[in-house]
Amino acid sequence: MNGCRICGGRVEEFLDLGPQPLPDAFLLPEELGEEYFHRLAVGRCTGCTVVQLTGEVPRERVFHHDYAYRSAQSGAMREHFARTALGFADTELAGRADPFFVEIGCNDGTLLRNVAAAGIRHLGFEPSGGAAALARSQGARVREDFFEAATAAAVREEEGPAHVVYSSDTISQIPYTASLLAGVDALLDPDGVFVFDDPYLRDMIEKTSFDQICNERFYLFSVRSVTAMAERYGFELVDAVRLPGYGGGMRYVLARAGARTPSPEVARLRAEEEELRLTEPETLRAFAASVLRIRDELTALLRRLRAEGRSVAGYGATAKSATVTNLCGIGPELVPYVCDTTPGKQGRLSPGVHIPVVPPETFTADYPEYALLFAWSHAEEIIAKEQGFRAAGGKWIVYVPEVRVLES
Ligand code: SAH
Ligand code: TYD
Ligand code: ZN
Repeated sequence: MNGCRICGGRVEEFLDLGPQPLPDAFLLPEELGEEYFHRLAVGRCTGCTVVQLTGEVPRERVFHHDYAYRSAQSGAMREHFARTALGFADTELAGRADPFFVEIGCNDGTLLRNVAAAGIRHLGFEPSGGAAALARSQGARVREDFFEAATAAAVREEEGPAHVVYSSDTISQIPYTASLLAGVDALLDPDGVFVFDDPYLRDMIEKTSFDQICNERFYLFSVRSVTAMAERYGFELVDAVRLPGYGGGMRYVLARAGARTPSPEVARLRAEEEELRLTEPETLRAFAASVLRIRDELTALLRRLRAEGRSVAGYGATAKSATVTNLCGIGPELVPYVCDTTPGKQGRLSPGVHIPVVPPETFTADYPEYALLFAWSHAEEIIAKEQGFRAAGGKWIVYVPEVRVLES
């Protein structure tokens, strides 16, 4: 096993989720038979405690031109991004002569279009050509590249220092931390901030939301591990804010070491993690045992429904659902289709288990008796939008934090 990608320490595996496909690699029917699988296992670093995958998928395999994920599909996330962009405009960027905002992993421009509309100088890094083209069509300036030491230094050279470097749900997907933070160091103004939002380890443990683990996300961060990461590369964690999105997320705010006074929230959240023994081996082993229990309960429920002749559909062809379906062996015989609003996923087959992806209209035209909510992190928005399903007698099945049939 390789050493920790943050500190070089020893990584101890605590959960093996078996061979798994790339969670955003939706297949055309004629592409069957050419699928890439990679053993998905997670461990904890005995040094800095960061939770990380024990193996790495080459980045070009994941974030290529047709990478399927699109940020704009959730209304709640669109609002989160608008609030985030306007928040920076009113605080960090306000009062500067010529502020410069950089986003790492801007995807389809759902956040950056707000920055562009406010007339703020900006640049998005986005390696996926399909996503980058959409961002440009929204008025955003995009560099179709991976953010890393060399590309960040080139932008610093051409455009000067950035005052805010922001990233959503992307830093946890970048294993090459040394190069990433060398890039932030090269690009960031001496008084600038590096802010990133990602799923929070505490939420994953407390909800047993093991589907946050997939061959796309390399790290599951905690306040403790991000503190260690920042210190190692000349930064300091100066603020941390829990976020309701991301299935339970955290915003980490980094500044250059010594440049700002840390908020008391950092120490408070860190103390809570200690109290919970969040990154202790026994906590992670207990989590692993809960994952296997949920796998068994969900599989048993779906088999029982099939034996009873009930109709079931999947809701949301999430990256997360790849982990669940491949771990549990849930294919079209148990869940005949999954509906999803993302045009680039529709008409394709889900990775590994090959459940056909259809538009939501298929679901509303002929409701099944049960809908398995793979897009559980958007539960409120989806259940509100699909009131007709419950009105017609339909029942939601969830598996986070427990396997349950929701009684309306
Ligand atoms: N920020 C968006 C998208 C998250 S998905 C949101 O929160 O909804 C992760 C995105 O990061 C993808 O669009 C992927 O292509 C991009 N990405 C992956 N590695 C990157 C890197 N090194 N630099 C910049 N973008 C990267
Ligand atoms: P998401 O949970 O954000 O992340 P991930 O793919 O990383 O696990 O994915 C949401 C998926 O659910 C996305 O494919 C769009 C889909 N979706 C719908 O089909 N309808 C909806 O109303 C919402 C909010 C999402
Ligand atoms: Zn480490």
